[in-house]
Amino acid sequence: MTKKLNLVLLAVCGALFSPLTVAQQGVVPGPIVVQGAMPVEAERFAQRLDNPREEQIGGWRFWRGTVDGYPVVVSETLKGMSNAAAATAIAATEFRPVAIINQGTAGGHDPALKVYDIVLGKYSVSLGAFKTPKKALGEGSDSRQWQPMDLLASKGSAGEDKNPHTIRQFPADAKLLAIAESVKGSYAQGKVVEGVIGSADVWNSELDRIRDFREKYHTSVEEMETASAAQIAAAFNIPFVGIRVLSNNITNQGKYDPQTGLACQDYVYQVVKAYIAENASR
Ligand code: 5AD
Repeated sequence: MTKKLNLVLLAVCGALFSPLTVAQQGVVPGPIVVQGAMPVEAERFAQRLDNPREEQIGGWRFWRGTVDGYPVVVSETLKGMSNAAAATAIAATEFRPVAIINQGTAGGHDPALKVYDIVLGKYSVSLGAFKTPKKALGEGSDSRQWQPMDLLASKGSAGEDKNPHTIRQFPADAKLLAIAESVKGSYAQGKVVEGVIGSADVWNSELDRIRDFREKYHTSVEEMETASAAQIAAAFNIPFVGIRVLSNNITNQGKYDPQTGLACQDYVYQVVKAYIAENASR
């Protein structure tokens, strides 16, 4: 068969069957991509892959392997919004994943959440895109007066746009979120709740600002990658969910514990196994 015909058949199969059904027919399915920003948020999962192969693309490390025979790619995105966006775009084009899970540590905005609790992001928001009111020299600055700026609202200037001032929500894929919920019972180190993940290249330690975010945008936690990865995954139509463990919570004196990053990977490993089991049995 010609290469071109093969490609056409591959595309038709992809359109007609679920990825794992395609797998059963002998066509290589797209992997699940699991993202973590720091080594402590990615290496544990990479070590749990069967037959892992490390690959460097630009500044980013990826490990391709399998879990229960299904392809999984672990991606070390590095920290922050730009790194997360770039790593997601690379994963989308290089691996054509069937799902992307962004996971790792976060700081609590909700005083009811403790270090080691896990937030399944029903949606994420950018806490870094705002328009400030006009103030004259000497009038100072108060971030609580800033209005959210939806950078996807229009093709024109966001600053001049009349309607960009509602915060953009990047929703989780409903099926991925349900699967993430379904393994709750396996987690013994804290509670698992659905919530809102706020992301920016900022580490907030001003309690008034954190309360303001929570009141206006209902954030449960903050970190530096999820909304960015979610935005890019959406641009590629790839199902996405963010899963974050609290490594610190300044609203209730929860002290920073980097070991939480390991607990989150263990949770996400269960999510990945559940995804594979559910889809393979269809
Ligand atoms: N604020 C911002 N980012 C945090 N992270 C953990 N806790 C917080 C917090 N309170 C995560 C970010 C980033 C790194 C600094 O740790 O996602 O990758």
